[in-house]
Amino acid sequence: MFRKTLVTAMAVAVAFGATACGGGDDSSASGGSGGDGTITMGFSQVGAESGWRTANTASIQQSAEDAGIELQFSDAQGEQENQISAIRSFIQQRVDVIAFSPVVETGWDSVLLEAQRAGIPVILTDRAVDSEDDSLYETFLGSDFVEEGKKAGEWAVENWGSQPTFVAELQGTTGAAPAIDRQQGFADAIEGTDNIEVVASQSGDFTRAGGREVMEAMLNSNPEINAVYAHNDDMALGAIEAIEAAGKTPGVDIQIISVDAVRDGMQALADGQINFIVECNPLLGDQLMELAEQVVAGEEVPKRVVTEETTFTQEQAVEALPDRQY
Ligand code: AHR
Repeated sequence: MFRKTLVTAMAVAVAFGATACGGGDDSSASGGSGGDGTITMGFSQVGAESGWRTANTASIQQSAEDAGIELQFSDAQGEQENQISAIRSFIQQRVDVIAFSPVVETGWDSVLLEAQRAGIPVILTDRAVDSEDDSLYETFLGSDFVEEGKKAGEWAVENWGSQPTFVAELQGTTGAAPAIDRQQGFADAIEGTDNIEVVASQSGDFTRAGGREVMEAMLNSNPEINAVYAHNDDMALGAIEAIEAAGKTPGVDIQIISVDAVRDGMQALADGQINFIVECNPLLGDQLMELAEQVVAGEEVPKRVVTEETTFTQEQAVEALPDRQY
């Protein structure tokens, strides 16, 4: 209710030509920028766990520079408590807008309430939070992870469904939205298919080292594994190393589906080591800056902005690789 009133007040101010440079409830405050009209954004990133994340960070930094938005960037190194501290520090600095990609889904309500009480709008990017109160953030920009898992599962049904398939699932970070949703989407798609069974499922934390380690252990305890569903390319690349170390041929003896379509993953797909990749687009920077400008100006924005994505077969990867941006 409070935010709605604030947003309306700001929209009115904009309509009358006032400079809307602060998201604060104190009209004397002008955000972290010093009142020259420059928007200051506090951004808390998950970390640097994957090629996807590196591309996402580069996109956000470049787009902020292009848009003339002052970016206060903070790397949480995979820890929720670091993100909460970063958000609190952004609130203290009275930035104009806070954006973050939550490490995990739950546990955000208190800090988001603090931002709301300080009158600072919050934009979720890439990952969602699990909260009953969606007034705690303005909008959520990112992929539909359930849909990604579903696309992976549908390809599995079509390509693996006619023979007994024992799948090793390499999950992303425990509690993270993409791990929860990609698991769900895949499970829904293969449900009722007699031939496809997930025989092992464990977190590799979205990292290459994690993928390798978990795959090694899975191959030791489940020698029947002949397929892998990795929640991201980095874990698939780690799994490839483990499969080769076990004397098997990735992409042939053990087929692999993964998610992201970063350059290294696409190269492995083009080389025949991965069999199918579902794209997850990390280039969110431009859309994020645009949303930030709108939100700070008090304009209405959609509550959910879903990124457009595709899928790649091995042949499509060969074609797409030369122009791949990340
Ligand atoms: O939230 C997006 C996911 O996080 C990417 O798919 C994965 O690579 C990253 O670590």
